[in-house]
Amino acid sequence: MHYVVRNAWYVLAWSKEIGDTPFSRRVLDEPIVAYRKRNGELAALLDRCAHKLVPLSLGQVVDDTLQCGYHGLQFDGSGACVHVPGQDRIPPAARVRSFPVAERYGAAWIWMGDPERADPGLIHVIERYDTPGWAVLWGERQHHLTHYLNIVENLQDPAHTTYTHRSTIGNPASSEVAPVTEEADDHIVTYRWTLDAEPPPIDRASGAFEGLTDRCQYYRFFPPCVSRVDVVTMDAGQEHTEANMDRGRRAYSYKFLTPETDTSTHFFWMHVRNFGVGDADFEARLACEFSRTFQEDNVVTSAMQREQNVTGLRQTAWLNIDAGPARARRMIEKMAAAEAAEAAGAASPADAVSRRTVAAS
Ligand code: FES
Ligand SMILES: [Fe+2]
Repeated sequence: MHYVVRNAWYVLAWSKEIGDTPFSRRVLDEPIVAYRKRNGELAALLDRCAHKLVPLSLGQVVDDTLQCGYHGLQFDGSGACVHVPGQDRIPPAARVRSFPVAERYGAAWIWMGDPERADPGLIHVIERYDTPGWAVLWGERQHHLTHYLNIVENLQDPAHTTYTHRSTIGNPASSEVAPVTEEADDHIVTYRWTLDAEPPPIDRASGAFEGLTDRCQYYRFFPPCVSRVDVVTMDAGQEHTEANMDRGRRAYSYKFLTPETDTSTHFFWMHVRNFGVGDADFEARLACEFSRTFQEDNVVTSAMQREQNVTGLRQTAWLNIDAGPARARRMIEKMAAAEAAEAAGAASPADAVSRRTVAAS
């Protein structure tokens, strides 16, 4: 795959998706099969039998092992073959690759790179998770038919919301406000405040605001695969302190992007908020609204991917609004180049970047 970082935790699935039957999903263009053992632990293996390459997900889970559905070889959670029907000797080559997995925040995270580096402490920390007065909404997994960097760019691009999301989160007042992009230690942020404006449809429908509002959006990207949009809508005219923002409608909108192939991505979303807590009907409406919103992005970025495939191009004109998306993309490209350089034993990551730039020009 192009432009992917392997040494990172990606969401493989929501925890509830994986039970005691084989679960298959393609990640970074590799077939993965996962299952849950009797003690509740997860295991993830390459979904390819070491005998004749049959996907192990076509078999079944037997005594905490995966039994191939062709000739019955059994592999344990480490990928070692523990049983060959009809013979005692287990050939040394009868082993499949296993992947580190960890569960946190209701998700199963997988590490596709060097297993030695798979420290669960590196899993992204979710803001206000398990905090009294805040609710967590787990969205469905969406399948977006576009390279994940197109989504990374989309999520770092406030300018599209007015047009792509007219019926959901779009706000015409925002389109005239130029976003600002800054780089922090571990992420990039593009933000803007829209002051003294009508609230967008999603906030107007809540009935929480009678007059004009101040609204901010901070689009944060934590490479390589976590996006968080911090949104606050508050009555206009107040100071923008943390305490006042907490008194408004405040939410952290997470997306976890897991590359599937060069032209498709698993798109998981999660929403953490301080309003409508405990209101199941409201939450159901919110889930529908977000689902529609992100499918609106899918329509645009999938269509864009089809044109990119046809033309071999990504973009033909550059605007001021491209600053944030371009920086996010460059962060990934640099990380991917550094990994490739390390793997190839190059002198330095910078060396690999410059060699690739020369090769591409
Ligand atoms: S292909 Fe799996 S046991 Fe033969
Ligand atoms: Fe969008």
